[in-house]
Amino acid sequence: MSLKSKNLLGIEQLSKGEIFEILNAATSFRKILDRPIKKVPTLRGITVANLFFEDSTRTRTSFELAEKRLSAETVNFSASTSSLKKGESLRDTVENIEAMQVDIVVMRHSAPGAPNFLARRIKSAVINAGDGCHEHPTQALLDVYTMREYFPTFEGLRVVIVGDIKHSRVAGSDIRALKKLGASVAVCGPRTLLPIGIEKLGAEVYSDLNKAIKGANVLYLLRLQLERQHGGYIPSLREYTQLYGIDVDKLKLLSDDYIVMHPGPMNRGVEITQEVADHERAVILEQVTNGVAVRMAILYLSASLIRDLEK
Ligand code: CP
Repeated sequence: MSLKSKNLLGIEQLSKGEIFEILNAATSFRKILDRPIKKVPTLRGITVANLFFEDSTRTRTSFELAEKRLSAETVNFSASTSSLKKGESLRDTVENIEAMQVDIVVMRHSAPGAPNFLARRIKSAVINAGDGCHEHPTQALLDVYTMREYFPTFEGLRVVIVGDIKHSRVAGSDIRALKKLGASVAVCGPRTLLPIGIEKLGAEVYSDLNKAIKGANVLYLLRLQLERQHGGYIPSLREYTQLYGIDVDKLKLLSDDYIVMHPGPMNRGVEITQEVADHERAVILEQVTNGVAVRMAILYLSASLIRDLEK
C-alpha cells in the first residue's frame, strides 16, 4: 500500500490505513536514528525546499534533519531574507523556486490553506508544516506515533487536549487523527478559547479541568499562544494558570498509565509547571525525536509516488 497523494496537506485527507502506513514506515526509520551512522541513501537525487514563512524551531530542524538522514538535496528559504519583502507574491516566489526543479516543497505559512493554494499551482509535492490555525499534520502524526509506543491500541484510549484550542492547528489535526484511529478525545479550556463547532470533529468539550482529565491516559497540553491573546480571551495569565495550568497534583486525577505530551514551545509556569515539564511521565522530548522518523517516513512515501509518476 502507498499514499493516495504525493501531497500531505492535512490529516483530513488521510484514511486510517494511510495513517498506519506512515506510522509503520516511521518505525523502520526510527531504528536508523539509533545507529552510529544515521544516514541512508533513500532520497538520493530528490531535492526538497523548506519554505518557512513563519517562525519554527522543532518542525524546521526536524524536516532538515529528516532530509539529511535520507540523503536528499535541500534548500532552505526564509521569508525574512527573500524577495517577498520587495513585494513579490507567494505564488511567484514558489513558482520561481519550483522552476529550479524542486521535487518536494515543505511549507509553513500563517495563512490557513496556503499549502493547498500552492499544491493546486505547482507540480512539486507539497507538505504542510503548519498553516495558520488550520492543520499541522506532521505534528499529529508524530503525536500518534508517540502514543502508540506507550499504548497497544487506540481503541478505548482517552486523550484530553487542554489549553488554547481556538488558535491551535495541532488540536485540530490531533483530533482528526485520533478519531480516525478510534480513540476518545476531549478538549478543555476557557469557553473563549474553545472554537464554535469543535464538537463536530468528534471531541467532547469541557471547561472544567478536573472533570475533563479524570481517568485520561494521555494529557496533551497546548501552549497558551500569548501573541494571539489580544482579543481579551482570558482575564489574566495568572487566572488562566490557576484554572488550567497543570501541576503535579493534577496528575493524580489521570489514569495510572498516563503520559503527558506537549507540541512545544512550552510556556513553563503558564500551562505547565517545571515539575510536570520535566516529569518522568512527560514524553515531550520523545515526541521531538520521533518527529524526525515520522518526517522521514512522509518524505519517503511522497518521493516514492513522485518516482512512480516519473516512470
Ligand atoms: N511543534 C511545533 O510546531 O513547533 P515549532 O513551531 O517550533 O515548529
